[in-house]
Amino acid sequence: MSFDFDTVIDRRGTDSQKWQKYAGRDILPLWVADMDFKSSPAIIAALQERVATGLFGYAQPVKSSVDAFVNALEQRYGWKIDPAWLVWLPGLVVGLNLTAEAFAQPGEEVLTLTPVYPPFMSAPKNSGRVSTQVPFRLDAANRRWEIEWAALEKAVTPKTKLFFLCNPHNPIARVWRRDELVQLGEFCVRHDLVLCSDEIHCDLILDGLPHIPTALLGAEIAQRTVTLMAPSKAYNVPGLGTSIAIIPDAQLRARFVRAAAGVMAEVTGLGYVACEAAYRDSEPWRQELLQTLRGNRDFIIDFVARELPGVTIEAPIEATYLAWLNVSALKLPDPIAHFEHHGVGLSDGAFFGVPRGSHVRLNFGCPRATLAEALARMKRAVAAR
Ligand SMILES: Cc1ncc(COP(=O)(O)O)c(C=O)c1O
Repeated sequence: MSFDFDTVIDRRGTDSQKWQKYAGRDILPLWVADMDFKSSPAIIAALQERVATGLFGYAQPVKSSVDAFVNALEQRYGWKIDPAWLVWLPGLVVGLNLTAEAFAQPGEEVLTLTPVYPPFMSAPKNSGRVSTQVPFRLDAANRRWEIEWAALEKAVTPKTKLFFLCNPHNPIARVWRRDELVQLGEFCVRHDLVLCSDEIHCDLILDGLPHIPTALLGAEIAQRTVTLMAPSKAYNVPGLGTSIAIIPDAQLRARFVRAAAGVMAEVTGLGYVACEAAYRDSEPWRQELLQTLRGNRDFIIDFVARELPGVTIEAPIEATYLAWLNVSALKLPDPIAHFEHHGVGLSDGAFFGVPRGSHVRLNFGCPRATLAEALARMKRAVAAR
């Protein structure tokens, strides 16, 4: 390994949301999705160089920043995009909120599949739109989360205008296959829905599966798609607030930009610099990150199976650094409080749209030593219930 994914960095007393939540308490935070690793050396060097100039005026992307992103999409995913399609955003959740506002009217519906990253359900509500949800079905025999196509069809009403897709999916860590994406695309075309595809985790596919950008499925789908991407997750720079909407259709793009008018902060120069260094100069670092995450993923799967009776991982973790754990057999009224009591801070499945007590989400983007200690504490928590 050329990069350091082992050193435990003390983030206590810093402005980290993840660590501040449990300030003064001996609780290892494995909740919000940022990793306890430094960003890539290329990003750090680029930022240092920029900071040394002392210049922090209003920014707009230079050609090299745009090229870095456009080239990465073409090289990794075979997606050739026109730079004119890009709208830079100070965060990806901003994009979810703007999409809801731009493509549905108050009272109209935004459909999604659950469990899902909470802003998929809250963004529509923020502007008086309605979130409608269809749960995944677990095919236990094949250990696969499946889309319930009949339920999805049934959930569409004349008020449904928009579909929120998470590709790959947080929290079930699923990479969507081509046939599934094609079917989802056809579904959106048939019901004339705008398709918003959040692909923030696409650079975090752990095994050999390909990431298929939803908009690459064909012109008809691309014309109704808003794709949201960011260096935030894969390069661990979420606090730099730099995300990108890719909107091929000019009319859709204009509506999106109009919804942002006057309320959207601009991306900072530091954000552009980090983004460029991420997409152009950090590939060796990302490859070692993926190796580290695969190791952590395998470690958890093994530990859960051997040491945590009553906890199950129902399907393979194909992407992300997030494990979705079924804890329902523990019969804990409040699993989060119970695990916190034993020194581990997890995310509550209830926020992702499942009943409280059924699932928790564990962030394994941390050094192995932290993960091993957290799992040892979870073992004590399970034994002590
Ligand atoms: C699917 C998904 N979308 C968006 C975000 C966050 O985006 P941002 O912090 O840029 O608003 C996350 C963070 O965990 C996520 O998992």
